Amino acid sequence: MAVEKEEIIGVYVLVKKDENKMEIMNLAVRENKRGQGLGKALIHDAIQRSADHGAKKVVIGTGNSSLGQLALYQKCHFRITEIIEGFFDNYPEPIIENGILCRDMIRLCYEID
Ligand SMILES: CC(C)(COP(=O)(O)OP(=O)(O)OC[C@H]1O[C@@H](n2cnc3c(N)ncnc32)[C@H](O)[C@@H]1OP(=O)(O)O)[C@@H](O)C(=O)NCCC(=O)NCCS
Repeated sequence: MAVEKEEIIGVYVLVKKDENKMEIMNLAVRENKRGQGLGKALIHDAIQRSADHGAKKVVIGTGNSSLGQLALYQKCHFRITEIIEGFFDNYPEPIIENGILCRDMIRLCYEID
């Protein structure tokens, strides 16, 4: 958690997938705190904690329509490794972002050297 004046302004969950791999989940920054570098700082924090745990890879997933998130992760040197087609097709409500229907899960990976 990122905390400012006793208020939570950013969160993420780091899940150990196996001995070598961690996954960042549920990354979120409070709306009025976005666009100031906190998302990037949280991702760097997650990478550092993963390295401290001896992991070699950090993975993260997002939808094909999440253009901002895809920009952010690639700016943090994650690379696209997998596309799970139709992952979101059976969600009860359609998800539309940036005028694009969210259908596929894009998986990205950061290699720790
Ligand atoms: C995604 C999220 C965590 C980003 O947090 P943030 O604090 O606004 O991100 P930052 O300010 O650190 O941005 C880092 C970089 O990503 C880019 N970026 C972030 N959001 C972007 C967007 N919507 N469109 C384009 N670029 C974006 C910024 O331009 C910035 O690049 P720069 O360093 O070259 O200027 C935040 O928007 C959020 O909480 N969204 C809702 C929850 C969510 O979608 N979580 C991800 C689930 S997959």
